[in-house]
Amino acid sequence: MKKIPVIDLDNNGKILQVPCIGMGTFGSDKFTPAQVSQAVQGAIEKGYRLFDCAAIYGNEDLIGEVFAEAFGNKKIKREELIITSKVWNDMHGRGDVLISCAKTLKDLRIDYIDIYFMHWPFPNYHAPGCDGDARNPDSRPFFAEEFMDCWRQMERLYGMGLVKSLGMSNMTVPKLEAVLPLCRVKPAALEMELHPAFQQEELYNYCMDKNIRPIGFCPIGSPTRPERDKTPEDISAVKMPEIIEIARAHNIHPAVVCLKWAVQRGQIPIPFSVYENEYESNLVCMLSDPLSDEEMEKIRLADKNCRLIKGQVFLWEGASDWRALWDENGVISGWND
Ligand SMILES: NC(=O)c1ccc[n+]([C@@H]2O[C@H](COP(=O)([O-])OP(=O)(O)OC[C@H]3O[C@@H](n4cnc5c(N)ncnc54)[C@H](OP(=O)(O)O)[C@@H]3O)[C@@H](O)[C@H]2O)c1
Repeated sequence: MKKIPVIDLDNNGKILQVPCIGMGTFGSDKFTPAQVSQAVQGAIEKGYRLFDCAAIYGNEDLIGEVFAEAFGNKKIKREELIITSKVWNDMHGRGDVLISCAKTLKDLRIDYIDIYFMHWPFPNYHAPGCDGDARNPDSRPFFAEEFMDCWRQMERLYGMGLVKSLGMSNMTVPKLEAVLPLCRVKPAALEMELHPAFQQEELYNYCMDKNIRPIGFCPIGSPTRPERDKTPEDISAVKMPEIIEIARAHNIHPAVVCLKWAVQRGQIPIPFSVYENEYESNLVCMLSDPLSDEEMEKIRLADKNCRLIKGQVFLWEGASDWRALWDENGVISGWND
């Protein structure tokens, strides 16, 4: 197979080369750790070189076995893979970020992480598998000082060489404005929801202007996301007429159109699938005919501004609804928004 193109990330003045597409590893409530790790094994063989992991996905130990086997068999060298992970919201406290990173390194059986993300910008968490109405009484709004306490610990990991670069996730422009001037180590990437029905143009452009590469999660519109993240208003990217029409013209699946659009736009999509035919086609489509400028424009105009991962389980007492998490009126939401 021809080589999958790579993208240069600006890692505080150094270049970090990352494949233009990777594989997600969130099994949702539907796929077991064994299914996900088996998919990672198959994906390495197909040519995937970027894997998006996280402590909260509950499968890093089994994925680590796959990595150890691949490195042990000399199928691949560690430095050929880009492995990301994320600190979960209940591990932001003093000293906890190091503990969390150490556990991930042990589970994944590696001695450094390529991009280590702060999964959410606040310490609010929910019980695994909870439903959409679940609320944690300890949840609170975003505070820049609290965020920076966690980020300073992330910076220490960077200084120790345990992580090659840092990333943020689930941020907004106002939150980035509040914290970026305070960062000693700048994030190289921002993981954010991105698909044709939710293009986040303002945040996307903001990141590109600041040399922070957007990594797009739910790039296919996450049809298998947990039930708590589904509402009747949600729009499925793969069912948008514009996407279906372009898929027909290229004789490809609408999911693949979403991925081609993502890479041509400039973000790095990290689609998930446990099915070999799906994850293989998600990768090889990077090597076939690109979408035309007209098709790219048609998709741009079809944006529905439809967020799927609303995060309502992270809301604090007194918050109006999930929009408060996303600073939709341009200022950081506080206790009574
Ligand atoms: N930073 C964060 O907060 C955050 C949040 C969410 C996700 N993520 C990351 O982003 C990754 C991707 O997001 P996601 O898993 O929610 O959503 P996704 O990649 O948009 O959707 C995954 C689903 O799409 C379908 N699919 C995949 N390839 C396909 C193909 N070629 N043809 C047809 N259907 C296809 C599969 O469903 P079927 O099984 O029905 O075929 C699969 O389960 C996650 O795994 C995780 O690593 C990060």
